[in-house]
Formats: sequence, C-alpha cells, structure tokens
Amino acid sequence: SEYETILIERKGRVGVITLNRPKALNALNGQLMREVVAAVEAFDADDEIGAILLTGSEKAFAAGADIKEMQPKTFAQVYAEDLFSQWDRLSAARTPIVAAVAGYALGGGCELAMLCDFIIAADTAKFGQPEIKLGVIPGIGGSQRLTRAVGKAKAMDLCLTGRNMDAEEAERAGLVARVVPAADLLEVALEAATTIASMSLPIAMMAKEAVNRSFETTLAEGVKFERRVFHSTFATADQKEGMAAFVEKRAPKFVNG
Ligand code: HXC
Repeated sequence: SEYETILIERKGRVGVITLNRPKALNALNGQLMREVVAAVEAFDADDEIGAILLTGSEKAFAAGADIKEMQPKTFAQVYAEDLFSQWDRLSAARTPIVAAVAGYALGGGCELAMLCDFIIAADTAKFGQPEIKLGVIPGIGGSQRLTRAVGKAKAMDLCLTGRNMDAEEAERAGLVARVVPAADLLEVALEAATTIASMSLPIAMMAKEAVNRSFETTLAEGVKFERRVFHSTFATADQKEGMAAFVEKRAPKFVNG
C-alpha cells in the first residue's frame, strides 16, 4: 500500500480505513493526518464505494494529536502551517463515514471520531478532551462539535477538567449512536456501513447533507432546505425504483442515479 500509518481495505462497497500506529496508540501525527485525508478523499471519489468505515485498534481509536511532534513547535510555526486545518477536508467528504471506536478516543482522537457522521462505540471506549492538562485547548473542532453533540454542561465539564467519559455516558449524552460489546464492534459497524452502502449513494449523500445543514442554519431555513432536497429526490431513478419496489413487494435495485 502507498500508506504507512493506516491500512486500507475494501469490503464490498465499504471502504475501511484502520489507523495503524500501534506503538503510539494511533496518535495523530502529520503523516497520519495526510494519509487519512488522502484515503477518505480517494474513497469519496470512487463510485464503487458507498460508505467509509474508520476505526483504530482494540486499545485505542486514537490517543490524540501526536504530543511529541507538537512539543517543539513555536506559535509562528503552528500559525503559519495552520496546524490541523487539513482535518477540515474530512467534513467535505460526501460519502457517509462511520467511526468504530474501541479504547481511547482522546483529544484529537475524539475530534476525529466526531468528524465522522456517527460513532459506534465498543463498551471499552473512552472519550475525552484532555488538552487542558497539556496547557492547550481542543484544536480539531472539539470545543464546537462536542458542545453540539452533548450540550454545554458536559462539554464544559470535559474540556475544563480533562476527564474521560466511558461509552455508556457517551451514549446517554448523545455523542455515540450505539454501544456494543467490544468483540462485536467491527462486525456491527461493518454491517451498518454495508447497509448504508446498499442504499442509493446520491440519496444517502442528500440525507447526510440535510442532517449536516441543521448545524449551519436556522430551523426554518433548514426545513426549507430539506424540503427542496426531498423534492429533488423525485428527479432520480432511485426514487422511482424505491417506491415501485415497495408497491410491488420486492427489494429495490438502486442504480445510484
Ligand atoms: C504521542 C502518545 C500519545 C500522544 C500515547 N502516546 N498518546 N504519543 N502523542 N497523544 C504514546 C506514549 O508516549 C507511549 O509511547 C505509547 O503511546 C503508549 O502509551 P502509554 O502512555 O504508555 O499507554 P498507557 O499507560 O496505557 O496510557 C494510555 C493513555 C496515555 C492514557 C491514552 O497514553 C495518554 O494519556 N496519552 C495522551 C492522551 C492525550 O493527552 N491526548 C490529547 C493529546 S492533545 P512510549 O514511546 O513512551 O512507549 C490533542 C490536541 C488536539 O489531541 C488539538 C489541540 C492541540
């Protein structure tokens, strides 16, 4: 493979990306950031891929940005290179991305999971924004995405004390969509991604775009946006096929058009 810090696999129409820096608990260094972004963009551009699954190891999804790489940097350097801004490119991906999280998802690791469309967590998962303990604050969107996911009370608690929350608390708070036994994590997450990839890709993209719109606009504008996109689904062959299949009591055959 062209990558050194991640593993890439295709499982049917699902593109699987596994973070693979085991000696550093998948800490996010510059190379890993470039490789994850490149791999997501390559799958996103691939018509044969209908969903992306991002995962780490049993012990760690990712234990944060690479502290050893960051330590020597000056303000002028991090400002000039706009450190971590490349992660924003993941939000531009249109293919749905599922995060499967076991073990530590701390700092940049929690932020990377939140950059995905939803999180399926193993019962071993631990989420936190411990940056304050290092004398910094979240830098890959944590203060914004965590607050939108769990509300001000828990976001402030986590960002100010640096404590971790376990998978149960994360599910109760709305950060994760499902918690499953660790042994079942990959199977369940792959099943979810495979289900998504079996839908019409353009329609799945529209659903993702509509949900994401709710974070960027007012309720009235968001509802109007949704309705217009809903109307536009009637311009697709897959809407005709999906509704015909229901009426004819058979499985739909989507053509992604
Ligand atoms: C670099 C890391 C790392 C990290 C772990 N390692 N996390 N290296 N950056 N974020 C390395 C360790 O140095 C060690 O390497 C190896 O991985 C194994 O880690 P241990 O600490 O020995 O494992 P363990 O005792 O099991 O503890 C696990 C842990 C702990 C609780 C997750 O590693 C930890 O606290 N890590 C840092 C978590 C953190 O603060 N994350 C936020 C980072 S800041 P060696 O070579 O010593 O064996 C961040 C900011 C984002 O993400 C944007 C704003 C700046």
